Amino acid sequence: MEENVKKIMTTNDKFEFEYISKNVDDTKLLGKEFAKYITKDTIITLNGELGSGKTVFLMGIASHFGIENDVCSPTFTLVNEYNTNAGFPIFHFDVYRLHDSNEFMEGVGTDYFYSGACLIEWGDEIIEDILPKETIHIDITKNDENTRTFKIWR
Ligand SMILES: Nc1ncnc2c1ncn2[C@@H]1O[C@H](COP(=O)(O)OP(=O)(O)O)[C@@H](O)[C@H]1O
Ligand SMILES: [Mg+2]
Repeated sequence: MEENVKKIMTTNDKFEFEYISKNVDDTKLLGKEFAKYITKDTIITLNGELGSGKTVFLMGIASHFGIENDVCSPTFTLVNEYNTNAGFPIFHFDVYRLHDSNEFMEGVGTDYFYSGACLIEWGDEIIEDILPKETIHIDITKNDENTRTFKIWR
């Protein structure tokens, strides 16, 4: 897993990588592994039905960065800001309740991009048209109660 994640996070080219998670801990571990390569400029979208594991994956990321606040989806506030031990903040978005990117621009805007890592739940569904091309897309499919397929691409 580590070599693949490293390749993904250090290349600017297109890539596609698949990972099967068999339980919550697998998903947290994948998030934690990813987190090592996240920088101030990273933009990641997390896509997949409710309960697929978007927030669990983000908890894995949070554990790497020593984030103390509880990580929960900012469905009503749109964005949560977490301080990290890495010298840049993490902005956690959940755009599920928005209709389109116009609404995102009015309510939130893209000023957050590149001023901290941006992790956007439901990003591809709602605001795909304004995502920079270097965005890393994570599509999560719920296979059964405890198994998830992660497709990570750009
Ligand atoms: N392999 C797995 N990875 C992530 N979550 C899992 C997995 N198996 C079961 N779950 C459960 O699925 C749910 C995922 O919830 P959550 O991360 O909040 O979803 P989302 O943010 O996509 O709506 C949790 O209740 C978690 O316990
Ligand atoms: Mg969520």
